[in-house]
Amino acid sequence: MILSVKDISKSYNRGKTGFYAVKPTNFTLDGGMVELCGRSGSGKTTFLSMLSGLLKPDEGSVEIDGKDIYKMQDTALSLFRCKNMGVVPQGHTGLNNYTVKENILMPALLCGNTDKEERSDELMKRLGIFELSSSFAKELSGGELRRMSVARALINEPDFVFADEPTGDLDDESTKMVLEILREYADSGKSVFVISHDSQVKTYCDDIYTMNSGEISKL
Ligand SMILES: Nc1ncnc2c1ncn2[C@@H]1O[C@H](COP(=O)(O)OP(=O)(O)OP(=O)(O)O)[C@@H](O)[C@H]1O
Ligand SMILES: [Mg+2]
Repeated sequence: MILSVKDISKSYNRGKTGFYAVKPTNFTLDGGMVELCGRSGSGKTTFLSMLSGLLKPDEGSVEIDGKDIYKMQDTALSLFRCKNMGVVPQGHTGLNNYTVKENILMPALLCGNTDKEERSDELMKRLGIFELSSSFAKELSGGELRRMSVARALINEPDFVFADEPTGDLDDESTKMVLEILREYADSGKSVFVISHDSQVKTYCDDIYTMNSGEISKL
């Protein structure tokens, strides 16, 4: 699948003045692993949210294989996202009162994939959280939650993975686990888009982009 972005932008107001969080941008994801870096507040998360179907751009289109995802009905887009887009959000996310395994399997359950138990076990083992399988998300450390959300993003084998600082609070060993699994995933023919400040991430990526005051450029 190819994701093609045409002239998307997003503006917000601060006080009485409007500003571009993301200036009109063209962009394509067509396999491989791509990094987006840039200063805090430069528009990275806003851009990722628009690419991943979570935030409608003010103008422009986000097309997957020629289909404008923001022209889909809400439920159709939700199901499409669930099957084809995995997101590792910035910060800590998890359903506190569900176990790690239940959290990871949730996207599979939501789109009727009932055969993902083995994959979930395999992902937990790869990410070093298998022994936490039956623990509740609320009992996990920040780094453990982050690895759980990486497994959750990969469970449905989506064509696109969007990870917002996936190694943010990880030690070197866990960082390596996460980056290796994302790299292998990209090598299997999928697209992986990673926002990061971590200098280790670059060495795993095919292309590097930077965001500067809402303007993206290739390094
Ligand atoms: N919902 C919103 N309403 C108003 N302003 C917003 C909103 N979301 C983001 N912004 C502003 O848009 C700009 C870009 O935010 P964004 O979260 O995309 O930055 P970022 O590059 O991801 O930063 P960080 O590295 O700190 O996560 C910031 O100035 C932010 O304050
Ligand atoms: Mg951000």
